[in-house]
Order: sequence, then structure tokens, then C-alpha cells
Amino acid sequence: MTLATQLLDWYYQRSRDLPWRADKDAYKIWVSEIMLQQTRVEAVKNYYTRWMERFPTPADLAEASEQEVLTYWQGLGYYSRARNLLAGVREVCAEYGGKVPDDPAVIQSLPGVGEYTAGAIASIAYDRPVPAIDGNVLRVFSRLFCLEEDITKQTTKRQVKSLVREYMSKQYPGDFNQALMDLGAMVCIPRQPRCELCPLINLCEAYAREVQNTLPVRPAKKEQKLVKLAAGLVVKDGNYLVHQRPATGLLAAMWEFPTAELAEGDNAIERLKAELYRTFHQKVQVKECVYHCVHTFSHRKWDIAFYQCEWLAGDVLPESSRWLCSSNLLDIPWAGPHHKVALTYKNTPKQ
Ligand code: ADE
Repeated sequence: MTLATQLLDWYYQRSRDLPWRADKDAYKIWVSEIMLQQTRVEAVKNYYTRWMERFPTPADLAEASEQEVLTYWQGLGYYSRARNLLAGVREVCAEYGGKVPDDPAVIQSLPGVGEYTAGAIASIAYDRPVPAIDGNVLRVFSRLFCLEEDITKQTTKRQVKSLVREYMSKQYPGDFNQALMDLGAMVCIPRQPRCELCPLINLCEAYAREVQNTLPVRPAKKEQKLVKLAAGLVVKDGNYLVHQRPATGLLAAMWEFPTAELAEGDNAIERLKAELYRTFHQKVQVKECVYHCVHTFSHRKWDIAFYQCEWLAGDVLPESSRWLCSSNLLDIPWAGPHHKVALTYKNTPKQ
């Protein structure tokens, strides 16, 4: 038996029952693949189902506003994925009659679609024999062929791509690619791989040499930069002061409670009070801290404390902010940890 037949036999017995595997609709595969980037399968399932209830076709999504789309993405993180998906689906509706193209190169020309995603869509939806190489596949192949070079290097990735092309099933490329994903997620896992359950154990060079725990080789991780922040919950007549972040950069155009970045040695309460006056033109008394957390992004960490504030007086707000009724707090897409606080304070204004 070949690598592909051994893997497919296993997949047809053990594959996971996932909502996006119910049919081969390219739009659905596209949405699922974008959601699954940097996000665990378990976390994606409910988002995917809710999304398909609201945006079942490319046309439904293309007609929606970006703000509404972002609220359906709320909590998945990496929001440029949602913006690009919307732009890509609008392009498909405008240029390709609402049908996702079947040529991997054309799919890859859509916003937010890289080589991996284009390969996944073309192989799963259209049975095109193209690889879909993500971190899981790199790990599986680095072990199968005992590749001891840094797996993040382009040369190693190219080597994996040519091996996948050579060994993949040309008859069932979509199933083959998904089988590799399942193998990487359930058996050939990053630490302590479950080799005793692996359908490819007889072919695995790393297993034969007992080096599966040391592969793949990757460079040491960089620490994220820690940023200290203080945010204010300012309520006036049952309305919360909210602010929209700039249109570019981290969490672009998402909403947050007014926030001050703290420098070394800053007093959080004084700094927040000054920020509310300088930027938002509101006089407040900053009271107790009601919530504190550390939120990790890919390149930075927010250490953020939320303070209850008593509103005293104020002038006209800047363009980017407004007073939002507490019962509408969940109608806007929130930036990271601000969402948790909005959930707590929905319908419960405090003075
Ligand atoms: N991860 C990324 N794409 C996937 C898929 N189609 N099935 C399971 N896990 C995945």
C-alpha cells in the first residue's frame, strides 16, 4: 500500500464529523478555512454554524455591512481575516458571477487567500490535485521524512511541498489534504505524538530513528511586547462612552472603552483621568478597578485594567467616539478584552 492509500483508509474510518464537511460548497470551505487559521476547530464550530445561518451564500455576505460582519467574527480574533473575506466574496460576486473560481491561482488572487487556503479550497471543493500545507502538514512531513532543517525556512517548506505533491492522492486530493489535517490534529500532535495510533507508523522515518519528539525543528519564539493600559467605564444617563480605533493597525476600526497607555511609573488612575480630559473632553472621577486581565496577541500583550468612572462634566466628543446605550453594547464589534466587559455591563449601567 502507498502512503496515500494508508492515510485515506484511516481517514474514511476516523475522520472528524465537522460542519463544513457536510458538502463541497467552495464558499463554505473558504469561510471555514479562514476561520480555522490560527483558531482551534472546537472554537470555530459554533461561529461557522451561526455564520452560515446569517450568510448562507456569497451574495448574502457581499451585501452585509463590514460592521455587521465583524460582530459575527467577534471573539475569533485577527479581524483582518473577516475584512479580507468580505472583500474577497464581494470580488467573487462582482467578477465571477458569485461562484468561487476553481483555478487555485485565481483563488489565490483573492484578498486574504494565501497558497494554503487556495490549495484547500481547490482540492476540497473542486478535487484539484494541489497541496494545502499548513503547520500541521509541515509537522507531519517533517517527521515522516525526518527533515532536520528549520521548518520555518522557505527551503524546507519548498521541500515539503514537493514531497506532498509527489505522495498525495491524485484521485481524492481533498480527502487526502483533510486526512493530513486530521492526522496532525489528532495523532501527529506537536508534543508527545501518539505514534501507536498512526496509520503511517511503518513509513515514518522519525519514528524509526526515535526522534519524533524533537521534530519539527523551529527557532525559539520571540516574547510579545507587554503594553500596560487603563480603560474607563464612563456612564452618562445610561450611556457608555465608547471609542472606535483607527482604520489601520491592531484591531482596526474595532470599538473599545476609552483607554490610556501607561508609561513606566505612571499612576493608572491619574493617567486615565488625564486621557479622558485631553482626548475625550470629559471630566471624570476615576474610581475602583472592576476588571483586570492580560490579553495576548501575536506580537504584543495587553495588561489592561478597567476602572469604573463617575462622569462629572463634559464637552463635545471627538469624531471617533460616542455615547452608546447600555442595551446596545453588543451591537458593535469590540476590541479584544473589551468584549468581556461589554458582556458584563450590557443592560446594567452604573453611575
Ligand atoms: N484545519 C484547517 N482546515 C481544516 C479542515 N478542512 N478540516 C479540519 N481541520 C482543518
